[in-house]
Amino acid sequence: MENYEENEFSSYFQSSMSESDDDERFVSASKKLSDDAIENVLRPKAMNDYIGQSKVKENLLVYITAAKKRGEALDHVLLYGPPGLGKTTLASIIANEMGANFKQTTGPAIEKPSDLASILTNLNENDVLFIDEIHRLNHSVEEILYPAMEDHALDFIIGKGPSARSMRINLPNFTLVGATTKAGMITGPLRDRFGVICKLELYSPEELKEIVLRSSKILEREIDDESAKLISSRCRGTPRIANRILKRVRDFADVFNDGIITAKITNHALEKMDIDNIGLDGVDRKMLKVMIENFKGKPVGLDTLGAFTGEEPDTIEDVYEPYLMQIGFISRTPRGRIPLAPAYKHLGYNIEETIN
Ligand SMILES: Nc1ncnc2c1ncn2[C@@H]1O[C@H](COP(=O)(O)OP(=O)(O)OP(=O)(O)O)[C@@H](O)[C@H]1O
Ligand SMILES: [Mg+2]
Repeated sequence: MENYEENEFSSYFQSSMSESDDDERFVSASKKLSDDAIENVLRPKAMNDYIGQSKVKENLLVYITAAKKRGEALDHVLLYGPPGLGKTTLASIIANEMGANFKQTTGPAIEKPSDLASILTNLNENDVLFIDEIHRLNHSVEEILYPAMEDHALDFIIGKGPSARSMRINLPNFTLVGATTKAGMITGPLRDRFGVICKLELYSPEELKEIVLRSSKILEREIDDESAKLISSRCRGTPRIANRILKRVRDFADVFNDGIITAKITNHALEKMDIDNIGLDGVDRKMLKVMIENFKGKPVGLDTLGAFTGEEPDTIEDVYEPYLMQIGFISRTPRGRIPLAPAYKHLGYNIEETIN
């Protein structure tokens, strides 16, 4: 680490960033292509390895144990919460713990009722069917899902006009696990058919530290306590971001410190990634600045924030906002978002001078 030139570091960093990255932000919680390979390696397979979310875990374990005891399929489960918190991971753990097959698809991939019918008729007894982004199922597909979830049956109509007949096919007992980042966009009838609804919360720094230590072990890298703490306090409460930062820090450590992750290496990498001491990056800071400077702390709508920052309003809502709200930097009001005192302080503004 000692013997490197600053520009050597910078050029290395730039090439490592461009290899992994679209123009997305580094601390975005949404999944990037480069996350795929590493996520599969780091993804916990059993409930015991799944860190945090203790309430959700405890309840699910009771339901799983009870279902197994009765020899039944687990009731349908809906998982919701911001991206990167472990919904897909938890869905596959549910299947593992049930000793069931795990079949995976997404809402937008099921275009027609017949697509869903073919998925459902290919299920075996007690299988777990995972539908990610379930809020994006189209209406005609969703209607097929209702009797499938409720009565384990597939209803369809054969023929047209007066000779049309309705037919029912029985399906095996299966568990549907749905995941969404937008619980508000799930229709009432669909939501009502889930017996278990779990909300995943952002993780505490202690839990994230444990995740970082676990991931370093899997990646076979030595990491000291301070570095793990540093990463855990900069990853916006999100395991996916913690793992992504760790992956980059590992690159710096491999090139400059024989693969050993120290606080010095970690700090340097974080600085190069433009992640500040509480995990905000340039876009977060810009968003807060717009709210403070341009709007003087008055409520700002998502669309306006999107226009000023060049981000989609949806992305602001799903990715940026949850963390800024959790740390008490912004608040939602019926008329829009407002910045709160800690945001002014973090960016070095005097609140009285700015809003007057
Ligand atoms: N509780 C956890 N303990 C350890 N690692 C975790 C945990 N939750 C998530 N991870 C890690 O974070 C990564 C992202 O999790 P996952 O893909 O399950 O998130 P997600 O909620 O499905 O995100 P998205 O909404 O984008 O689909 C996983 O690969 C896993 O390594
Ligand atoms: Mg997922």
